[in-house]
Amino acid sequence: MAKAVLGIIGGSGVYDLPGLEDVREERIASPWGEPSDALRFGRIGSAQVVFLPRHGRGHRLSPSDIDYRANIDALKRAGVTDLVSLSACGSFREDLAPGAFVLADQFVDRTHRRQGSFFGRGCVAHVSMAHPVGPRLAARLVAAAEAEGIRHQAGGTYVCIEGPQFSSRAESLGYRAAGYDVIGMTAMPEAKLAREAEMTYAAVAMVTDYDCWHDEHGPVDVAAVVDMLERNVEKAQRLLARLARDFPAEHEPCPVGSDRALDGAIMTAPEM
Ligand code: ADE
Repeated sequence: MAKAVLGIIGGSGVYDLPGLEDVREERIASPWGEPSDALRFGRIGSAQVVFLPRHGRGHRLSPSDIDYRANIDALKRAGVTDLVSLSACGSFREDLAPGAFVLADQFVDRTHRRQGSFFGRGCVAHVSMAHPVGPRLAARLVAAAEAEGIRHQAGGTYVCIEGPQFSSRAESLGYRAAGYDVIGMTAMPEAKLAREAEMTYAAVAMVTDYDCWHDEHGPVDVAAVVDMLERNVEKAQRLLARLARDFPAEHEPCPVGSDRALDGAIMTAPEM
């Protein structure tokens, strides 16, 4: 059984993990490009944890400029078996007010200018994305949210747009009519790449606004988003600390096969 290493990708507002002990920082080189920042290795309780701020410290990278392949590759090289991704999001549901945490388990990819696969010419592979989130890891997040008294929804559909502009009202109404729960700019292709790298993935989408569909709320306003993010940070850090504290020493085999996603996925014949 593989030793469990918990990877955490911090989104907007989450640039650090204060509970991390015995911290060591290392820049990991990747042939796929430049990771967003140095990785921070440490532990919380007995759990081995690796932290990466997705936008870099100081929020230098826009969602389209992040090298998602380099980030996932660096985390894989760091030994990460289970990856929790945090991000800010807008809500399409009246009952998911700013401040709520959505443990999204489905994604719709509306991005169009990002490198979305480690495979291609020379080595062709098709992994399943039917169930992008590892149910055991998601259940651990639910348990951590409950233990910490954090308002959350277990499951939900996250539509990922290219950005950096927010959606038009027509787009927002369309996504809402399609039944999506939340909208953000970063979970894709991250979740796809994690699957190709055979890492178990789960997402915590932190609601900061109602996007622009809501008649009683105006367009998305960055100042209000940042204000809500700042109010969410302490909760996110508590959630992660609890998750890590209760984390198993060994990676739990994933019921949807995320940790063996390449078994049978590669179509290219071995060299003859
Ligand atoms: N991140 C936070 N709020 C968002 C929104 N309304 N749309 C896209 N990304 C977001």
